[in-house]
Amino acid sequence: MTTTLFTDTQQFADWLATKRDSTIVGFVPTMGALHEGHGSLFELARSQCDLVVASIYVNNLQFNSSSDYDRYPRTLDEDVAMCQSRSVDAVWAPSQLDLFPDGQQLLTTGENALEYEGRDRPGHFVGVATVVDRLLSIVAPDRMYLGAKDHQQISVITSMCGQLHQYVNIVRCPTIREHDGLAISSRNRFLTQRGRSQAPIISLALQHMIETWRAGETEPTILIAQATSELQNIKGATVHYIAVLDGNEMQLSMSVKQGDTAIIAVSIDNVRLIDNMQFVNV
Ligand code: PAJ
Repeated sequence: MTTTLFTDTQQFADWLATKRDSTIVGFVPTMGALHEGHGSLFELARSQCDLVVASIYVNNLQFNSSSDYDRYPRTLDEDVAMCQSRSVDAVWAPSQLDLFPDGQQLLTTGENALEYEGRDRPGHFVGVATVVDRLLSIVAPDRMYLGAKDHQQISVITSMCGQLHQYVNIVRCPTIREHDGLAISSRNRFLTQRGRSQAPIISLALQHMIETWRAGETEPTILIAQATSELQNIKGATVHYIAVLDGNEMQLSMSVKQGDTAIIAVSIDNVRLIDNMQFVNV
């Protein structure tokens, strides 16, 4: 099969309309610069759906500075090749004007967008919710595949879908990591060699929190203190937050239990890295 690339939204919508009958449509929204993390979403969608659609749209609304937006990697040819290798049926890569012909009407977000990434990146989740709503209004998939790596993003998008797109089933996909544990991200390429060599401390700190919990510690502050001291070993890093959340919700966990989630955000060399892991017994 060949992956079809659409840049024109009307053409994409017309094509989709001809395919939709008695078909499970799986949708993977992305900003391109595709890597193995995205690849795993395509694979899961491919295994569960009749038709798999990926969008590539670098969403200006969710960036906090225009320089971040400008330096975001744009690699459309490689991205289409990656989609082809994972048997994605169609890639939809619209321009801003094409996606928002009537201008960008911002949605509002709720309480789960206030803390953590929402606090440190004002407007970020409004931008995410606004664009995903717009994408869904065109694709209207049965299933949407989102990476667990962006824990708060899943929470915010789930709330938005609960209000505006209740028909969509959200599939949470596991985080794909480099061989040394660093969660794969399009931002990793901005790390210096030294920063890259120290970045795996983030996933190790998360792993150690889980091991300490498995050994019987349920007090979040103790687990957080342990991770904080480990992250201090990263030279020149800024720890933005470490928290333990209740299950998949954004509320704090009071006593750590199976299914809770530890989340971390750290900047190394001014590159913001986020990661999380769930407390599960082996
Ligand atoms: P982007 O950063 O391109 O990510 C697209 C999807 O890939 C997201 O669901 C993200 O969680 C997932 N992903 C990224 N790295 C991953 C990894 N290492 N393992 C597993 N999944 C991973 O997230 C966005 O784009 C945007 O905010 C978007 C939802 C497209 C809205 O603009």
